[in-house]
Amino acid sequence: MTTTITSTVLDATGVTMRFGGLTAVRSVDLTVNSGEIVGLIGPNGAGKTTFFNCLTGLYVPTDGKVTYKGTVLPPKPHLVTQAGIARTFQNIRLFANMTVLENVLVGRHTRTKEGLWSALLRLPSFSKAEAASRERAMELLEFIGLAAKADHLARNLPYGEQRKLEIARALASEPGLLLLDEPTAGMNPQETRATEELVFAIRDKGIAVLVIEHDIRFIMNLCDRVAVLVQGEKIVEGPAEVVQADERVIAAYLGTPFDGAPGSEEAAEVEAAEAHSTTSSEGDDQ
Ligand SMILES: Nc1ncnc2c1ncn2[C@@H]1O[C@H](COP(=O)(O)OP(=O)(O)O)[C@@H](O)[C@H]1O
Ligand SMILES: [Mg+2]
Repeated sequence: MTTTITSTVLDATGVTMRFGGLTAVRSVDLTVNSGEIVGLIGPNGAGKTTFFNCLTGLYVPTDGKVTYKGTVLPPKPHLVTQAGIARTFQNIRLFANMTVLENVLVGRHTRTKEGLWSALLRLPSFSKAEAASRERAMELLEFIGLAAKADHLARNLPYGEQRKLEIARALASEPGLLLLDEPTAGMNPQETRATEELVFAIRDKGIAVLVIEHDIRFIMNLCDRVAVLVQGEKIVEGPAEVVQADERVIAAYLGTPFDGAPGSEEAAEVEAAEAHSTTSSEGDDQ
């Protein structure tokens, strides 16, 4: 097919989040289009998670506007999920003493019409809905490769599989946009590569993805577009190759020498020169 119609899935404009005197996110614009995987990178404390929290109704931004498929998002997490945005958390949030399958079923609750009472009273309508939900949850477990462990307790899964399960639970709400906060944190290289494949497969299902990650190689392999946050501000945005080569990003994010960087003698000269002109600088205290 040659006609791909792209539309804006997420549109954040001028999103600002202040905590007292600290501006954690400063006037950030970001869009995610259908069919896209967009990366959000930046040093620790740059405001990435806070930005996610502003998108998902966990925080009400101090300023700015967020729309999902053209509609302004309500400032309540469950309503945002209902609208079609699902997320995973930087720190795994699973129900440790529930089974793998039950964790996914919990993720489906925003999509099932049956109320709490019918569930508690086990009315026939509930059993039917429950059966359908289970079937869908098993499909998702199949998709992420955890079907064989459906009856295991979440807490008994190895770390990498817990992260996968979080993704399955997020997918259970049938989102149009998935937000992943450091999905490969703590994973070994094989698990990271498998997660890459998983994210591509999710995109191929028609779900747009916005992903925060520290693993720069992961981001560069995966993303159509990458935005860089530094101290709450978006300093660069563009295709992965462009961002990867941007010296501001290299300096701010990696903080390490790059191809074509001055040689070590030159670097030492620069450092020495800077050491003489630090009267007004915050400097580093080393
Ligand atoms: N609820 C909060 N109250 C006060 N400060 C916060 C809160 N959440 C985050 N921050 C601060 O906002 C800044 C950005 O944090 P965060 O969004 O977690 O960064 P990142 O995810 O990029 O590492 C940090 O300085 C952090 O301490
Ligand atoms: Mg974070």
